Amino acid sequence: MSQDLVRFSATIPEDLLSRFDEYAARRGMGANRSEAIRDLMREKLVAEAMLSPREPVVGSITMVYDHHAPELASTIEDIEHEHADLILSSMHVHLDHDTCLELIAVHGCGMQVLKMRDKLLGLRGVKYGALSCAAPDSQVRNG
Ligand code: NI
Repeated sequence: MSQDLVRFSATIPEDLLSRFDEYAARRGMGANRSEAIRDLMREKLVAEAMLSPREPVVGSITMVYDHHAPELASTIEDIEHEHADLILSSMHVHLDHDTCLELIAVHGCGMQVLKMRDKLLGLRGVKYGALSCAAPDSQVRNG
């Protein structure tokens, strides 16, 4: 995949462009409209890849959960073992007396990663959880 930059022109309503520039500025990328547009394109391609079972993704699952929830820690560990092929690494942090943080680096087909996320985040005692993904496809990894 070529990483040469190409210039293109697009016709956009003035109001839409103005609102986009404000959005980009809020996200700290206002100085570079091209980078802001590239980020949006990558975001859309990753979202699309997540819908296709064959597209590979890499990312991380972040979970905050109740340390005292019955058998929750061992259930999480069981799910991680069951999906060892999707997990690159995981880290457990004891946030305080009652709360644990689990960070799981994942890779694999989008749908498999989503299924594992749903299993983990649906467990009783999980207070917060999110999957953040970037597709490793060269179209979105570089440039
Ligand atoms: Ni802990």
